[in-house]
Amino acid sequence: MDSSPTAPGIATLSVHAGNAVDPGTGAIRRPLVTANSYALPEDPSELSWSGTDTALYTRNGGANQHWLEEKLAVLDGGESAVALASGVSALHAVLFTFLKAGDHVVSSDVTYVAVFRLLTELLPAKYGITATLVDSSDLDAVRAAIRPETRLVHIETPANPTTRITDVAAVAEIARAAGALLSVDATFATPVLQRPLGLGADLVVHSLTKYINGHGDAMGGAVIGAAELIDRIRAEAMVNVGGTISPFNAWLIMRGSVTLPMRMRAHCAGAQAVAEFLAADPRIAYVAYPGLPSHPQHELAAKTLDGGFGGMLAFAVRGDAATQNRFVAALQIITSAVSLGHDESLIVHVAADDERAPYYPEEFRRWGHLRFSVGLEDPRDLVADLDRALTATLGPVG
Ligand SMILES: Cc1ncc(COP(=O)(O)O)c(C=O)c1O
Repeated sequence: MDSSPTAPGIATLSVHAGNAVDPGTGAIRRPLVTANSYALPEDPSELSWSGTDTALYTRNGGANQHWLEEKLAVLDGGESAVALASGVSALHAVLFTFLKAGDHVVSSDVTYVAVFRLLTELLPAKYGITATLVDSSDLDAVRAAIRPETRLVHIETPANPTTRITDVAAVAEIARAAGALLSVDATFATPVLQRPLGLGADLVVHSLTKYINGHGDAMGGAVIGAAELIDRIRAEAMVNVGGTISPFNAWLIMRGSVTLPMRMRAHCAGAQAVAEFLAADPRIAYVAYPGLPSHPQHELAAKTLDGGFGGMLAFAVRGDAATQNRFVAALQIITSAVSLGHDESLIVHVAADDERAPYYPEEFRRWGHLRFSVGLEDPRDLVADLDRALTATLGPVG
């Protein structure tokens, strides 16, 4: 992103990018265009049926997709963006497009579970693509995992659910020296807190389902980067694998994303308050939040995240799995449900035997974890809800 003093700020871009007066109606908001097909020229013989440049068919790119893509590219400071049906379809599109049989990937050992399964089970078995999983906050480990056939380094920062932070710029250097692409799943950070392309990453991936839409009512995913790379994803993964975002979801996400910067500020402030409350409570076994000095990469997070530490944290109460469940059931404001980045606070209890647990820090393996997406409610109400549920489950402090 252009960071010169005269360049528009992210709040301005979130309001205006991708929007324009609709030439057909004069409406000052982009309309919802649900048509599957677009009018063909009188002589379509020159047209590529799989082309993505001309309006043709929604799987090749429709109006609402294009407007959303324009906006996402601007927010992340990329040349181009492709919007897809979900975060997982965006992640799969990266792996499908840039890897072939015999290639090798170096990946963060803690990533969204579908990437973990794609890299450890599905791609090796189906396509002979191999992966080495590493603690990507350990740069020596990343370096040591590189092989001559490494084509892609994939990291997730902050990582779901551990909140581990990876130094994007440092890993970008390692990937570049190896001649590999670097893709970054920045779903937790959003372009408000970090823009990985500016730090040397080649591709940034978002689940739009989370903060960028922000209202828990539409699914989507996106990849942003140089036009040459994004065009390949469009041509190979979008047109031929599908996973197209619906016009309605693209429209909803476009609308939700208008308030992204102010929502992120509120998520960060709420999460910081809640994390500090939990960290000071003796009934809590541990708290993982990059904004706490106890977080192993707190300093790196402070240096590389812009204006806050995100809205995601993980913790456990002192007790077994049944105790964690009783605590969650006693919450009255915070909802027990999967997903994250919604307006309402969401919590999910994941037991200590989660399939990715071998890669989690020791405290996650001992106690399990409660993944907490801090919503937009008043932080003091969230703290009161947590305190009440702790007292109902474990009794008062002391
Ligand atoms: C970091 C991260 N990436 C990707 C995804 C997948 O997104 P979606 O559910 O939109 O496919 C998730 C979902 O939780 C996620 O947390």
